[in-house]
Amino acid sequence: MDGSLIQRILIIALHITLFEIETHATCDFGVWGGSCQYNCSTTCYYGNECSSNGGKCGCEQLHGNCYGCAKNYFGDVCNKACNQNCSLSDQCVLSGLSCGCERQLGYCNSCPKTLWGNYCDRACSIRCINLECDRTSGQCTSGCKKGYYGSDCSSTCSTSCIYGCDQQTAGCFPSYCVNCNGGLPKCDQSNRKCLNGCIDGFYGPSCDKTCAVVTNNTVCTKCQPLISVGITVCTECQPEYYYDGVIGNCKTCSTGCKTNNTNIAKCFPNTGNCRFGCSSGWSGLRCDTFTCSLANCESCVANHPTVCERCQTGWYLDSGQCVRCSDNCATLNSCDTTSGTCTGGCKTGWYGNTCKDNCTTNCNQGECDSNGICSSGCNSKRYGQKCDLQCPNCLTTCNRNTGLCDAGCVDGYHGNDCLQPCNSNCLNNKCSQLDSKCSSGCKQGFYGEFCQLPCGSNCDGNSCNPTTGACSGIAFLANMGMARFRLFSKLFTGNLHKSRRCMHLRMR
Ligand SMILES: *[C@@H]1O[C@H](CO)[C@@H](O)[C@H](O)[C@H]1NC(C)=O
Ligand SMILES: *[C@@H]1O[C@H](CO)[C@@H](O)[C@H](O)[C@H]1NC(C)=O
Ligand SMILES: *[C@@H]1O[C@H](CO)[C@@H](O)[C@H](O)[C@H]1NC(C)=O
Ligand SMILES: *[C@@H]1O[C@H](CO)[C@@H](O)[C@H](O)[C@H]1NC(C)=O
Ligand SMILES: *[C@@H]1O[C@H](CO)[C@@H](O)[C@H](O)[C@H]1NC(C)=O
Repeated sequence: MDGSLIQRILIIALHITLFEIETHATCDFGVWGGSCQYNCSTTCYYGNECSSNGGKCGCEQLHGNCYGCAKNYFGDVCNKACNQNCSLSDQCVLSGLSCGCERQLGYCNSCPKTLWGNYCDRACSIRCINLECDRTSGQCTSGCKKGYYGSDCSSTCSTSCIYGCDQQTAGCFPSYCVNCNGGLPKCDQSNRKCLNGCIDGFYGPSCDKTCAVVTNNTVCTKCQPLISVGITVCTECQPEYYYDGVIGNCKTCSTGCKTNNTNIAKCFPNTGNCRFGCSSGWSGLRCDTFTCSLANCESCVANHPTVCERCQTGWYLDSGQCVRCSDNCATLNSCDTTSGTCTGGCKTGWYGNTCKDNCTTNCNQGECDSNGICSSGCNSKRYGQKCDLQCPNCLTTCNRNTGLCDAGCVDGYHGNDCLQPCNSNCLNNKCSQLDSKCSSGCKQGFYGEFCQLPCGSNCDGNSCNPTTGACSGIAFLANMGMARFRLFSKLFTGNLHKSRRCMHLRMR
């Protein structure tokens, strides 16, 4: 290589470097490209995350590759999401930090004990004790459930093995050794003792006692002796339970914990804190505080923060809402919390269970009983239970029940009920309430008890005696002395002739 060639290479290298420095220098933070025309991916490290990346944020300017990826993203430009299962392991949920996944291929950085595979996407065999297996191989790490063998417990022990068989060798267990950690090789058959302790959940030199029995706790899966006290205590519980160190016992995960993945318990075995957060209405790390969020509700139906079971005092349940006791309750805020019935009755003037109805204004003093029946009688000329009927044609009041007038009818009517009109020929429209006879005589031109008969067509002035029908003139004169009659007749000569005939008629 001669000097000039080296020189040229150096110059080219310098140019490239300068070009790179130039493009770096020209773009603002967060954009990339030759003319800085592209935004960095929004899933690159930004903000707080940059400090964990040595302060490097955004992306490099030539290809837009992120300096680091936001939580749970991978790929050059962090545009791929890590498998959801990557973030389920106890330590990442507990730490609150993203365990996330590996940058290039998205392999999970950590995996829950019950899942395996690069992406934690496979569940350990249900034949694994505690459902636990090796993250890479899927081999059961705590041994097989009774009757199975093989690294992943996929094989079935020979039917001749009454007590199950060894995970590695498939050799039948004697009645003892079954629960030795390490299987047959770790069982001293001469004295029937396990040499390497017990598999989880068992206890004693021969591992023949279950933790459940030793600790008097059916859901205890791991236990250990407390030598100083001389007892054996539970240290781990079945999935869906946690060990409460304070009471020294297993407790069930709160029903308020959300469930996300059926293979993973909804709370942490050591704290009881919920892994996937709380269902609605629940709060606290263990989601064991339930808050009823319906207004004025005292207690909600279990697990339903918006379904009220019982309203607060002064309110009652109506179509799922707590409604205030009626203002018309005699005692303020005192009504049955389920029915709304005012417990102390209604204020005067109101009735009904919830005192919603007002007594009619026809009730005397506006008072009525709980059924709306006027309790102090009716206002004038009203009758009926609720005084809703009008007394008919009564002179004064009428009977509350029958509507019959107490003091007779107004002029013009008769009958018990004062509904029958007097004969229209009654004088002044008056008739007897008892027999409907016209009580003040008849209108001119009529006679008879009911004034139903017309006076004779020839009666002078169309008037006649209301009782007899005799034309008025004669009848009147007949009552006087004859002398006076004559005197009279002289005065009314013109009419005499007719009157006589009238009298004659009547006398026959
Ligand atoms: C870049 O982001 C800015 C604001 O966040 C936006 O207005 C602009 O349209 C984006 N440019 C591109 C090319 O996406
Ligand atoms: C997560 O794990 C479960 C097994 O518990 C599996 O069925 C599921 O497919 C996994 N989810 C994904 C997105 O891989
Ligand atoms: C075992 O537990 C049950 C219920 O949890 C309890 O009633 C019983 O007394 C316990 N027995 C002993 C020996 O502690
Ligand atoms: C399950 O949990 C993962 C991780 O916490 C979360 O991203 C996902 O949305 C959850 N899925 C459901 C259905 O809640
Ligand atoms: C109460 O009574 C009055 C008069 O009778 C009536 O106008 C009003 O509508 C009633 N109110 C109710 C709530 O029934």
